[in-house]
Amino acid sequence: MPEHARYVWFDGAIVPWEEARVHVSTAAVLRGANVFEGVRAYWNADERELYIFRDAAHMARLWNSAKIMRMSPPWTQEELSEAEVAVLRANAFEGTVWFRLTLYVGEGEERGGSDGQVRIGGFILPRLSPRSKGVSAGVDSCVSTWTRIGDASVPPRVKAGANYHNASLAWMEARLAGYSGQPIMLNERGKVAEGPGACLMMVRDGRLVTPPVTSNILESITRATLLELARDAGIPTQEREIDRTELYVADEAFFCGSGAEITPINSVDRYPVGTGRPGPLTRRLQDLYFSVVEGRVPRYRDWLTPVYQRATTPA
Ligand SMILES: Cc1ncc(COP(=O)(O)O)c(C=O)c1O
Repeated sequence: MPEHARYVWFDGAIVPWEEARVHVSTAAVLRGANVFEGVRAYWNADERELYIFRDAAHMARLWNSAKIMRMSPPWTQEELSEAEVAVLRANAFEGTVWFRLTLYVGEGEERGGSDGQVRIGGFILPRLSPRSKGVSAGVDSCVSTWTRIGDASVPPRVKAGANYHNASLAWMEARLAGYSGQPIMLNERGKVAEGPGACLMMVRDGRLVTPPVTSNILESITRATLLELARDAGIPTQEREIDRTELYVADEAFFCGSGAEITPINSVDRYPVGTGRPGPLTRRLQDLYFSVVEGRVPRYRDWLTPVYQRATTPA
């Protein structure tokens, strides 16, 4: 297997990796004008099946991002879902995959930029993505000196490529300072927002607490999934603002996201979180989450799209 996928879905067709190219004159290149989704497809080795996790939720969010940016996708959600399945099949992946589904601003913006004159392109770029070490061992994090972008300037609700300039600054700073995990970013009100590439949850007094969607966070699908799984399991949840110093006295904390999955946070600013190791509720949610995404919990099978269709009909 080469380091990258053999095939990419690009502007409506499956093409070899080398042929997926965007021109330098596009707004996509000139100012990172694109909206996208980062999606996982989970490999179930027993069934030899790949399951795309919560595709409908990702499509809905992509459409919201495009709407806010006044982009009209030239494909339907169904067409893009079919394209996802097709490109994953073409690559014949046998392992968990992460893919980026992107709508980008192509040629035409120089002619005024109004809808209809600008070409919107798209691509689906997959890669094998085994679980990272941090998911089992946990990571050390810090509070970033960079402020999270805000709804009044660069809305984090829009999952746009350009938002990740803010993310890169925070991520690079944390890495250079020697932290193994991504940092935690505060919003302009000084409250906890999220990581540069994941949402944040903490446990205090047996309750799963996470900032509300108005705290300048991405409306994360993993966050929504975990809140639902926790409620169904009878675990109390709370969506409320979180102060920085609450992170120092939390019993447990973790990042959650399609990419980060559930990554326990062992310390923040060198303060141990709880025992300094992944806590029991975090472990419980990890077990549940990984069973769900691999299609082992019948109740949540509706969230999965089988890629190879080899599996027997779910019970
Ligand atoms: C900034 C940011 N917040 C949160 C998330 C988590 O979102 P989701 O759970 O939909 O992947 C991501 C991406 O994974 C992200 O990039």
